Amino acid sequence: MTIDDIKTVAVIGAGDMGHGIAEVALIAGYRVCLRDIRQQFVDRGIERIFASLEKLVSKNKVTQDHFDKIKNDLLIPCTDLEEAVREADLVIEAIPEIMDLKKETFQIMDNAAPAHTIFASNTSTMKISEIASITSRPEKVLGLHYFNPAILMKLVEVIRADKTSDETMQIGYDFVVKNNKIPVRVKKDVPGFIVNRVQAPSSVLLNCILDEKIAEPEEVDAVMRKLGMPMGPYEIIDFTGIDISYHGSTYFAQSIHPDFAIGKTLTAKFQANELGKKTGKGLYDWSQGRPDIDLSKATDKFDPMDLVAVNANEATKIVAQGVCSFDDVDTAIINATGNPMGLIALIKNIEPEALSARLENLASKFNREIFKPTQIIKDGAYR
Ligand SMILES: NC(=O)c1ccc[n+]([C@@H]2O[C@H](COP(=O)([O-])OP(=O)(O)OC[C@H]3O[C@@H](n4cnc5c(N)ncnc54)[C@H](O)[C@@H]3O)[C@@H](O)[C@H]2O)c1
Repeated sequence: MTIDDIKTVAVIGAGDMGHGIAEVALIAGYRVCLRDIRQQFVDRGIERIFASLEKLVSKNKVTQDHFDKIKNDLLIPCTDLEEAVREADLVIEAIPEIMDLKKETFQIMDNAAPAHTIFASNTSTMKISEIASITSRPEKVLGLHYFNPAILMKLVEVIRADKTSDETMQIGYDFVVKNNKIPVRVKKDVPGFIVNRVQAPSSVLLNCILDEKIAEPEEVDAVMRKLGMPMGPYEIIDFTGIDISYHGSTYFAQSIHPDFAIGKTLTAKFQANELGKKTGKGLYDWSQGRPDIDLSKATDKFDPMDLVAVNANEATKIVAQGVCSFDDVDTAIINATGNPMGLIALIKNIEPEALSARLENLASKFNREIFKPTQIIKDGAYR
């Protein structure tokens, strides 16, 4: 089987990610069955797809003819799971992050889909191998991890689970290319894959800065804004939701190292349901809209290079494990975040002694083992 055999795609779940993944595949010319559990959720997903396509037509990025074809021919709404996958060559699952729900869904799909159908999960955190194990076709199961919003973000991580075949990986990779996205192969099914994993230590550091009152969120965000970032890291935490940080950190603390556990300030916010933008209050007050960051508050109590150092250090751990190459790390970060430079490019010119000393210092100052420099950093093998 090759990419040319993929003609019909089923997207399971029409929420934030599912509708975006479906839209991208429709633009690429695939026939897409979009399934959710209730008609109103499918309708909402389709409304979002059409609203986005209208904008793309007005910007001449999609032709009116193609939009008409999507409406009349390519997009098939569906509420019945078995029906959704019956003619699918590739299924992409984007339902809530609950393992039992995913397993139950994959089992039904396994019974209903043709033998050749490939199954992909868009999970951010769960082990693809565990999801695959419930099916009779683990060699045909992989991860296709899109980033939010799927229509804009270029990266898709193509994840190999324990039993994924080379053929399935190749088709997944080629499918991403056909969707005008940038694929990066994740050769092992590790927690957080590439992007979420290598960015996790900077969250730990931001928690330490917060808990130990090294600097105020606004002082740090002002530094990052002055460096050209559209949003500072604490504002991003509020924007995405403190609940998301809470669950993500808890998962990493359980699956990688206890050091990843969330700090006391964000735990208190989580418990008080002050989750950020979605509740109107988090680290910032969002009741009047986006917080106004006072750039004059930029502080030298915090060094932005520390964030780069701890993340780059984490990247060397997954490279050592054979998950991906250094180039893959940078391609992934640039295309998932829109940052102009990758982590490894940012540390390339730093002497290993200086980088190791910085990491040792952070490890002892905040009592975090995960910040300790790896052998690759000490040896300068990233240069
Ligand atoms: N939101 C993100 O930033 C992001 C990024 C990458 C990956 N993900 C992953 O994508 C998946 C979906 O996340 P989301 O943010 O789109 O969630 P969401 O809550 O916006 O959408 C999930 C949708 O799935 C539907 N659903 C529930 N059970 C279903 C079933 N059995 N069959 C079909 N549909 C069902 C829900 O009704 C809902 O519409 C999760 O695994 C998540 O971890 C999310």
